Amino acid sequence: MENVKVLINESKLENRVKELAKQIEKDYKDKDILFLGVLKGSAVFMVELAKKIKNNVEFEFVEISSYEGTNSTNNIKLTKDITRNIEGRDIIIVEDIIDTGKTLDYLINYLKTKNINSLKIATLLSKPSRRVIELNVDYIGFKIDDVFVVGYGLDYDQKYRNLPYIGYIED
Ligand code: IMP
Ligand code: MG
Repeated sequence: MENVKVLINESKLENRVKELAKQIEKDYKDKDILFLGVLKGSAVFMVELAKKIKNNVEFEFVEISSYEGTNSTNNIKLTKDITRNIEGRDIIIVEDIIDTGKTLDYLINYLKTKNINSLKIATLLSKPSRRVIELNVDYIGFKIDDVFVVGYGLDYDQKYRNLPYIGYIED
């Protein structure tokens, strides 16, 4: 078992998620919100954030996988689609982490075909130094350096998702 060091502890996460929830309540007044979570990493953040928001928050999920092609360009594929009509809805994409920005860029373009009313983006973590595609992100929990993090939904080889804090693996 690798040695996981704490980067962001439970109480810091709790406080920051509460702040983001307050900001979202303010921005959306009493409107219904549709959270669109990107599986699987966003699951923990999505639940914790939704629990702190007074508006009606509905859940929908997509799964997106990326793999390196032989010519080293990134290929991105939708492996689980939205299962109902989201036309006219106010959507917040919920992500665990934005790294290069390619996953979100793909999803934003996909949603442009869906005739939705509004779109904002919430991410628990962001690694700005890794960005390849510039995105306008509305709610960011924490900006972090270029380290590989796990916990609070984020995995390393499908492990560590249930850690209650954000950690990094020391070798
Ligand atoms: P992007 O398309 O490069 O922005 O990729 C974002 C996705 O890569 C996230 O949704 C994560 O699934 C994964 N990812 C990026 N950095 C990390 C990390 O430090 N730990 C765990 N997963 C990561
Ligand atoms: Mg992800």
